[in-house]
Amino acid sequence: MPTESARVVIDLDLPGPTISRHVYGHFAEHLGRCIYGGFWVGEDSPIPNAGGIRLDVVEALRALQIPNLRWPGGCFADDYHWRDGIGPRAERPRMVNSHWGDVVEDNSFGTHEFMALCELLGADAYISGNVGSGTVAEMSEWIEYLTRADDSPMAALRRQNGRDEPWKVPFFGLGNEAWGCGGNLRVEQFASLARQYSTYVRNHAGNDVYRIAAGASDADYHWTEVLMKSFGPLDGADGPAAPFQGISLHYYTMTGSWEDKGSATAFTDDEWYLALSRAGHMDELLTRHSTVMDRYDPNKRVGLVVDEWGTWWNVEPGTNPGFLYQQNTLRDALVASVHFDAFHRHADRVVMANIAQTVNVLQAMILTDPDTGALVLTPTYHVFAMNAAHHDATSLAAHVVAPGATRAVDGKELQLLSASASTKGSTAHVSLSNLDAAQDRTVVLDLRGRDVVGFSAQILTAPELHGHNTPEQPEAVAPRKLEEIRRHPRGLELDVPAHSYVTVALELGADD
Ligand code: AHR
Repeated sequence: MPTESARVVIDLDLPGPTISRHVYGHFAEHLGRCIYGGFWVGEDSPIPNAGGIRLDVVEALRALQIPNLRWPGGCFADDYHWRDGIGPRAERPRMVNSHWGDVVEDNSFGTHEFMALCELLGADAYISGNVGSGTVAEMSEWIEYLTRADDSPMAALRRQNGRDEPWKVPFFGLGNEAWGCGGNLRVEQFASLARQYSTYVRNHAGNDVYRIAAGASDADYHWTEVLMKSFGPLDGADGPAAPFQGISLHYYTMTGSWEDKGSATAFTDDEWYLALSRAGHMDELLTRHSTVMDRYDPNKRVGLVVDEWGTWWNVEPGTNPGFLYQQNTLRDALVASVHFDAFHRHADRVVMANIAQTVNVLQAMILTDPDTGALVLTPTYHVFAMNAAHHDATSLAAHVVAPGATRAVDGKELQLLSASASTKGSTAHVSLSNLDAAQDRTVVLDLRGRDVVGFSAQILTAPELHGHNTPEQPEAVAPRKLEEIRRHPRGLELDVPAHSYVTVALELGADD
């Protein structure tokens, strides 16, 4: 097939809002083998660990500079009572994890283990509090236990359990999916509860908490609207008398229905495009939820937190249906890159996002073998790594001019070239996703406003659309240097093969 051409126009001297590094956030739930076997192997495991936490997982995630980790759920969070997870492990009470496999949870991974994990990762803690079945007092005491420095009752209890210094907990969630597993609440009911619970998530010892109320699923704009109304006036000069600072949004990508979501690896070309079209739907969701938020909060003081996103496929054959273990292919990588383009474009409102989930569950960065313990980095992991330069960078508009690079999918036009860009100091980074299953593209980067004095590029692709990594072939889908990049009168020109992800690093001349 002859190569088609496209152009991406970027004004390097017209900076937009900052892309928070927190949109590269993560999520770890007590679900399947995410915590147990994934992050936590226990102190007696032959797998090298620090106090029970897997060191190979820590090392892989540190390389991504993961900014935050959400825990303990998900649906599990609204069943979780934090006092069950402190004190000597052998004495901790057990509970049933009714959402995920109906297994017995022994609570050996609790508050201290999670905070130790965050310290090892160098990541901020995002604790998801229980509104569905917990009490206001319980939530209030948890934040006191975590963050208070003096001899308050909860600080004393923490010391009794071996931790003297308070931890920092910058992010705290008020419930999860309150419209569903988090209590099946009506939004009016939940909005009142969120105001009440957040009042008692206090700032102790200089720990400023960013409180995030459980938000909408998909296109439930009514949910967002009622939560926004519940703030009261937000446009005054004094700032909001805000009970909480952010509201969340959940959206998952699948090609089928909730009953039959599609296979992670055995998919047709049509399902490739359908998944990428549905991933692209995130942009519309962000636009429309932001529009609702703008009506009540024109100064964008309230953050939108996409604290669950990613692909959700049928579980791998032979695995526990309640454990949500799925393979991860090049298609998942491009689903991720398309999401990041959307998050970058909406950097003015989207303050955080958390892919679901980090290890062994849904669109994971890392898969571990339950028998051998072998660890595999997924194609999605590599997109996070290739995009690290966007963390806390200033967004730049990237205008794609690609005549003919569209395809009708699911009643919409799918743009087959997706792009975003950012700048930091004397560097800029461009991300390019060629979503076309078969068509290579020569892309001209039309770079305006600043001189480009140096450049390099990386590519992630595979011979097959369903290419993925396994313990036997851990590098089947891994980034490599892209050699096919050269100067062009408008800036740079590069060859972007079909079904590939490319990042371009630019070194910029002095700012005029
Ligand atoms: O990520 C898996 C589950 O998906 C979470 O527990 C829940 O919040 C969502 O429905």
